[in-house]
Amino acid sequence: MRKVRVAVLGYGHLGKWHCQKVEAHSEVAEFVAIVEKFPAGQEAARSNHPQVKVVSDLKDIIHEIDAAFVVTPTSTHFELVKELLEHEKHVFCEKPLCSNDLEAQKLKEIAAKKSVVLQVGHSERFHESWEKLREKFQTLPTPFSVRINRVAPFKGRATDVDVVQDLAIHDLDLLLYLFKQKPISISAHGYKIRTNNWDHASIQITLEDKCEAMVVVGRNAVKEMRDLEVISKDGMVTVDLFTNKIYEATASQFEDGTFVKEEAYAKRDHLLLEHKNFYHSILETLPAVIGLKDGMNAVHLVDCTLKAMESSSAVMVKLG
Ligand SMILES: NC(=O)c1ccc[n+]([C@@H]2O[C@H](COP(=O)([O-])OP(=O)(O)OC[C@H]3O[C@@H](n4cnc5c(N)ncnc54)[C@H](O)[C@@H]3O)[C@@H](O)[C@H]2O)c1
Repeated sequence: MRKVRVAVLGYGHLGKWHCQKVEAHSEVAEFVAIVEKFPAGQEAARSNHPQVKVVSDLKDIIHEIDAAFVVTPTSTHFELVKELLEHEKHVFCEKPLCSNDLEAQKLKEIAAKKSVVLQVGHSERFHESWEKLREKFQTLPTPFSVRINRVAPFKGRATDVDVVQDLAIHDLDLLLYLFKQKPISISAHGYKIRTNNWDHASIQITLEDKCEAMVVVGRNAVKEMRDLEVISKDGMVTVDLFTNKIYEATASQFEDGTFVKEEAYAKRDHLLLEHKNFYHSILETLPAVIGLKDGMNAVHLVDCTLKAMESSSAVMVKLG
C-alpha cells in the first residue's frame, strides 16, 4: 500500500502536536514536510524533526505531497485550503475552516470540482461522553435548555482572533452535532477586556421546538470551566469536559438511594483519532467524518454570533 505523503502547515502551539500524530501514523503516512513561515519555528521544526524537509512556503513542496494539515492562524486558512484544493490535495484544516461565510462558499465551489477529502478539526466531537449521551440528547422531550461554559484565565494565546472564532466555535459545532433541534436565531453580547477583539461572549441561541441554548465563552475568567448542561422534564445531565465526568439527576432516585449519579469517562487523544479518521477516509475513499458542510455551518454560526454582537440584535440562522 502506498503511504499518504503528508505536510504539516504551521509549527506553532498545535502544529507541534499534529507533527507528533503524523509520526504516530507512520504505517500509513509518510512525513514529507513542515511548512512554517517564520525562522524561529523553522529552527525548532528542524531540530525536532531532522528527517523532515522544512520550508517557508507551501509552493515549495506542494507537488511532493498528497495531503496537508493546516495548523496556521485562522486568518490564513482560506488561502492555504484554497491552494491545496486547487492542487487536488486532501486537506485537514484546523477549526475554523475559514474566517466567514463568503470564504466558506468559495471553498465549497472549489471543493465541488475535486475528489479529495476535506476534514475540519472540530476536535470536541471526539469526547467519549458523546458516545454515551448523543442518542439521549437526540431524543430529549422538548422543550429543553442547554447551557455551555468554556471559560479560562488569560493565557495570552490566539489573541489574533476573538473568543467566538477561537472558543465558541467548539460549542456552536457541538450544538449542531449533539441535538436534533437546529438553531433558528442568535442574540449575543460581548466584552473586549484585554485585547481589541471580543474576550468574552454570552450567546443565546433559539433552537427549533422552543428549545434554547446559552453558550458562555471567555479568556479572562477567574477559573477554568468547560461544561455542558442539559435540562428537560426528564431531569438534568451535566458533562464536565474538564474533569471528564457525567452527572445525572432524573425524576426518580437511583438504585443506590442517591439523587445524583456520577460517572467518569476516559480522556482520549482527540488529535490522534482525527488523524486516524483522516487517513482512513483518504485510503478507503470515504467522506470525511467532519466535512465541508460541518465546517461551513460552524463558520456560519460564528458569523451570525459576531453580527449579533456588533448590532446588539438577533440574527437569523440559515444552515446549509
Ligand atoms: N481543535 C482545537 O482544539 C484547537 C486548539 C488550538 C488551536 N486550534 C487551531 O489551530 C490553528 C493554529 O493555532 P495555534 O495555537 O497552533 O497557533 P500558533 O500561532 O501557535 O501557530 C501557528 C503557526 O503557523 C505559522 N504560520 C503563520 N502563517 C503561516 C503560513 N502562511 N504558512 C506556514 N506557517 C504559517 C506561525 O508562524 C506559527 O508558528 C488555529 O486555527 C486554531 O484555531 C485548534
